[in-house]
Amino acid sequence: MITVVGSINMDLVVQTNHVPEIGETKLGTSFSTYFGGKGANQVVSIARLGKEAQMIGACGTDGYGEKALALLKQENVKTENVFLFPNETTGIATIIVSEADNRIIVVPGANNLLTCNEIERVKQEIVQSEIVVIQLEIPSETVHAVLEICKQHDVPVVLNPAPVDNFKEEFIELATYLTPNESECISIFGGNMEQSLELYPNKLIVTLGDQGARYYDGEKHIFIKGFQTTPLDTTGAGDTFNGSFAFALAEGMGIQEAVRFANASASISVEKQGAQSGMPSLEKVLDRLKDKDSTDTK
Ligand code: RIB
Ligand code: NA
Repeated sequence: MITVVGSINMDLVVQTNHVPEIGETKLGTSFSTYFGGKGANQVVSIARLGKEAQMIGACGTDGYGEKALALLKQENVKTENVFLFPNETTGIATIIVSEADNRIIVVPGANNLLTCNEIERVKQEIVQSEIVVIQLEIPSETVHAVLEICKQHDVPVVLNPAPVDNFKEEFIELATYLTPNESECISIFGGNMEQSLELYPNKLIVTLGDQGARYYDGEKHIFIKGFQTTPLDTTGAGDTFNGSFAFALAEGMGIQEAVRFANASASISVEKQGAQSGMPSLEKVLDRLKDKDSTDTK
C-alpha cells in the first residue's frame, strides 16, 4: 500500500483569458468547483492506477469535508485515517486558470490541524507502507515527524516541496526523493540547478512542466522529455506526476523509467478540467507510453 500524507481542499476555479495585474479587474469566462488539495490529488492519481492507497489528512465538517471523503472512498482510497475536525473549515484553494498557466491561493483550514499528535496515532500505518508521499500544505512539524518515522523505518518517501514557503532545510536529508519544479528548486537550492542536481544524485528530481523532468544519476544528467499534448487545465499535473512516480517506484521501476511513466500520466491529466478529472488509469498511461518521447543525457 502507498500512503499519502497531505492536504484535502475544495478548489474554487475561475477560468480567464487575462490574468489581472495589481489593481485591475478582469472578466472571467467560467467558474467551477472541484475537489483538490495536493495530498488528495496525489492519492487519487495512485488509486486510479489501480494501487491500494490510503490518505492521511484532515477535513472540516462544513459539508465540503464529508463530500471530499465520500469522493475519495469512491476512488477506492482508504480514508479511515482522515481526521474530521468539527467547527473547522475544509481547506480551500482559489485557482485562476488562464491559457498559459494557473495561480493558486490556498487557505489550509483543517489541513493545519493535522499535527504530530494525529501522526503518532497512525504511525503503524505509515511504517507499513511500501512508499509514502508527502507535500507541504500541512504544518511543517507534521511533515518533519512523518519524514523522521520513514527514515527510522526505512520507508522510502517522496517529498513534493510545494508550496515551497513551508520547506525546511532539514527535509533534504530526511527525504528519499525530492521533486520540486524549477522555481521551487531555485528557491530551495539557489540558481545553479546543475550543481544542486549533482549534490543530490538519484534524489533530486526537477519537474520541467510540459518539458518533462531531469535528475543526475551520479555520472550524468538525465533529461526525460514530456509527452506532447494540448492542455486544457494544468492544475494537478504536478500531483499526477508525484502520485504516478510513487506508483511506478512501488511497482519496482528504476528512477528513469518511473519518471517517464509519471510524465506520461501527467500529460494525460492536463487534458481535462480540474485537478483530478483527467487522472488516468494504468491502461491509458501504458498507451501513452507507446508515443514517441526521448531521453537525453549529458
Ligand atoms: O496542485 C494543485 C492543487 O494545489 C489544487 O488542487 C489546490 O487544491 C492546491 O492545493
Ligand atoms: Na486536469
